[in-house]
Amino acid sequence: MRFFAATTAVTTVVATIFLSSLTSVTGQTVVDIIGLDPRLTRLYSLIVSTPGMVNTLKTLEDITIFAPTDRAFRTIPNNVNWTPEQVTQMLQYHVIPGRAYREAELTNGLQLRTSLEGQSLTFQVNATGYFVNRFSQIVQPNMIASNGIIHKIGDTPLLPPTLRNAELTVTPTPRPLPPTPVPVTSRPTLAPTPRPTPRPTTPRPTSGPGSLGNILDVTASLDGFSTLVDLILLTGLDTALAAMPHATLLAPTDDAFASLDPSFLQALTTPPYRFHLQEILRYHSFDMMFRGPNLLESLSILGPTGLFLSSMNTAHDRVQFQSPNGRSLNLNNGSANVVIADVSASNGVIHAVDAVLLPRCVQDTISTTVQNDRRDLSTFNTWLNEARLKGLLNRDGPYTVFAPINEAFNEFSTGTPSVDDMIEILTYHVVQGMYPSTLIEDGMELTTVLGSTIRFRVTEMGVIMNDSVRIEMSDTVAGNGIIHKVGGILWPFRISV
Ligand SMILES: *[C@@H]1O[C@H](CO)[C@@H](O)[C@H](O)[C@H]1NC(C)=O
Ligand SMILES: *[C@@H]1O[C@H](CO)[C@@H](O)[C@H](O)[C@H]1NC(C)=O
Ligand SMILES: *[C@@H]1O[C@H](CO)[C@@H](O)[C@H](O)[C@H]1NC(C)=O
Repeated sequence: MRFFAATTAVTTVVATIFLSSLTSVTGQTVVDIIGLDPRLTRLYSLIVSTPGMVNTLKTLEDITIFAPTDRAFRTIPNNVNWTPEQVTQMLQYHVIPGRAYREAELTNGLQLRTSLEGQSLTFQVNATGYFVNRFSQIVQPNMIASNGIIHKIGDTPLLPPTLRNAELTVTPTPRPLPPTPVPVTSRPTLAPTPRPTPRPTTPRPTSGPGSLGNILDVTASLDGFSTLVDLILLTGLDTALAAMPHATLLAPTDDAFASLDPSFLQALTTPPYRFHLQEILRYHSFDMMFRGPNLLESLSILGPTGLFLSSMNTAHDRVQFQSPNGRSLNLNNGSANVVIADVSASNGVIHAVDAVLLPRCVQDTISTTVQNDRRDLSTFNTWLNEARLKGLLNRDGPYTVFAPINEAFNEFSTGTPSVDDMIEILTYHVVQGMYPSTLIEDGMELTTVLGSTIRFRVTEMGVIMNDSVRIEMSDTVAGNGIIHKVGGILWPFRISV
């Protein structure tokens, strides 16, 4: 039974269009886009406080900017004082002039000259992802602006050699920060905000933010969100949500869950679909906080396209936030509407939504998912094409696919087997049914589509199939099944290559 694949993967198509023509639909320059991004506030304030920087960045054509997130900037101690020249150098070191490089064009070992005289950045690309100077991973690639492209980097800002060796002035005494003003949201902006009922329990020793529960507590205290709360508890996402200092949760109402296909909802609560549920819930969670007034203001500047924000699911699938009239907020082209905005919790904010959003990863079929994973599965994809097996993996399934990663095919450097042999090899890597890693037990045997079985050993080294091939990365979900990436190829017969 296939629940997810019904909707087409609009987001893929759109992303491709965006990338093929480097024109920002909104006409926003790199500076505008950085300024509107709730995760890039530190970078933006450095840019605007550096004389001439805004102008330079707005007038340069076709640039690539690596934009450290606010979180990345937290690795720089608060009491470090950069001189204006040091800030300028640091910013220049994040800019590649002359060409807008898409993430896919960054190759392992590539070095690119920055606009800081004589300094280059080096790139590392591997199974973990794309890294700049080894320590800063690209966390959100390919944000297109009218005059270039922005890749958000996490972990830490890029420091030119001159700034690396503690040539930083440290202020003698940490300057006490003025008390952060609490944003006043007296004016209801979207819909009336229900106040979480004040707890009539024993008075707490402290007042202020401490008296507010965390995101999940507050959600649970509201009427009409019990399905969501139950599902969150089922996947253990509550721990992750509680650990985040600034989070946003889009909370589908009980009615929203009730309007899903009942068999789909039922399946989601069962162990085989645990990872699918997790991806869906994480698609509603954001590791940053954004609330009505600012968000609406930004969205009204951005126009109908709105803003795409990376969710916390594995693929960081993005949710599109739009406000066509500057007053109401909707998501993914009206797939969901915010019905109650800006409910505060101690560690973030909750917006109630009237529909469950389904991320691309639970809508795409296995065929599409494999095809999109050029980094690890491009050879597997080529083989599936040659063996004409893509259609099989578009069917309802569900299927569990043990997909050999590109390196696994190295033994075929001298030539590929015949199509008939390919079909046998490939169908030996596909099992009917949904088997996430959590359901694969030591000693278990599964019958493949080819007919013969695979035996699993669960060891300290990981899960090994037929004592020879290891699961390198488990549980990539797809609409019609689940994919485990494996480090070798299982041979269902002896062939000579
Ligand atoms: C990929 O490269 C980064 C940066 O060099 C490194 O931290 C990470 O461990 C590497 N991952 C793998 C799987 O090699
Ligand atoms: C909504 O539609 C617009 C225009 O077709 C497109 O650019 C955008 O990516 C769509 N959003 C989603 C989430 O599919
Ligand atoms: C893998 O193990 C199963 C169970 O022992 C066995 O039936 C099958 O033939 C093995 N496959 C290969 C390719 O050795």
